[in-house]
Parts: sequence; C-alpha cells; structure tokens
Amino acid sequence: KKSLAIAIDGPAAAGKSTVAKIVAEKLSCIYIDTGAMYRALTLNAIENNTDINDEKSLLNLLLHTEIELLQSEQGQLVYLNGQDVTDAIRSQKVTNSVSYVAKHPAIRHEMVNRQRQLAEKRSVVMDGRDIGTHVLPEAEIKIFLIATVEERAKRRYEENVLKGHTPSMEELKKEIEKRDEIDSKREAAPLIKADDAIEIDTTSLSIKDVANKIMEEVSKKQ
Ligand code: C5P
Repeated sequence: KKSLAIAIDGPAAAGKSTVAKIVAEKLSCIYIDTGAMYRALTLNAIENNTDINDEKSLLNLLLHTEIELLQSEQGQLVYLNGQDVTDAIRSQKVTNSVSYVAKHPAIRHEMVNRQRQLAEKRSVVMDGRDIGTHVLPEAEIKIFLIATVEERAKRRYEENVLKGHTPSMEELKKEIEKRDEIDSKREAAPLIKADDAIEIDTTSLSIKDVANKIMEEVSKKQ
C-alpha cells in the first residue's frame, strides 16, 4: 500500500502535537515532531555555549548532533546524542531561544533533509511550521491549525499547572506572540498556511473534535 503523509502546521501552542499523536495512533503512522528537533539543537547550543546567532557555528554543531525521536508507551521520547532530553527541551530557556536557532537557512536545510529522510517510504504525521509548504509539499493532507492567542496561552497554562508550575498568563501570552512573530517574519520557510492546506480554528473545539475533523479529511482521500 502506498504511504500517506499528513502535514500539520500552525502557530505555537495551537494543539498540533496533541492531535498529531492521536491521528498517528488511529492510522498506525509514525508521528514526527519537527519542533522537538529544533529544540534539541537549541538545548545542545546552550549547553555548549554556542552563539545561537552564529549560523556557521550552529551548523557545525548540528552536524555533530544526533537527534532521535522514539515512540514509547509514555509517548514520544527525544534523545540528544544518546541522552534523554524529552523534558529538558521544553524549558523556558529553550523555548525563548529556539526561534532564533530556527531562523538560519543552513540549519533549516539540514533539518529538512533529516525530516524528509524520516518520512521516506513510510506513512507519517509530521507537525511543525513549514511541513506543508517545504518539508513535504506533496503531502496528501495538509492541515493548518489556528486558535486565538488567549486560548493558546490558557492551554499552555493548564499544561504547566499539571506539571506543578504556575507561570503567569501574561508571560505565556508574550512568549507565544514573540515566537509567532519571529517564525512568521523570517525569510527562510516562514510560518504560513500552504495554499492547499485546510485551516481549522480550534479555539472552541475539543481535541477530539479536531482529531475527528482531520480523520474526515483522511477518509475523503482514501
Ligand atoms: O513546535 P514547537 O513549538 O515545539 O517548535 C519550536 C520552534 O521550532 C518554533 O517556534 C519554530 O521556531 C521552530 N520550528 C520551525 N519549523 C518547524 C518546527 C519548529 O521553525 N517545522
């Protein structure tokens, strides 16, 4: 059977990874979180005191950085040069720096190569910012998820509370807006809806509703 590619893009904290995992599970596809790859490189740069604005040094670091995405019973695990960094890549420091790392064309070029390799010859659900536009332009299904910044901050807040943190709602909103701005305004593969993507506003939808809508699109294609 021919392999299937589903691209899910959208701004920060729009619920991409949550629904991507559900859809991947339902279709027995692998889930690839491309944001985790940029986050892992960012963590490595911070740990090695590599200047995140220095494209050449970052590329050199990336070429020595092994990033693995593993599916486990507890969900997706992220390994950086053999170390489990699943939680570490979600730190505030990484979150606040990652968009600067992801701006560099040479970094994106290498990441896109790795992402295409992961998607080769198998069915995938891949989420990120440029999947439908650049990484998998031939994807059978392209989804662009949006939600108001208030709703996205609220969801992030609730996730944080579950983990025992109490961030400020204002700070979360600012961080999300800042990241969206950098990601949308960069020259290399900015965050933008692909012409042939289906936009879903998730502001007043449940996770299940969104996953069902995507599954409807999948059945239309099969
Ligand atoms: O998806 P997540 O919020 O974890 O992504 C972290 C950051 O990685 C984004 O804000 C963006 O700067 C970058 N990214 C990207 N292209 C992708 C996925 C993520 O530039 N395909």
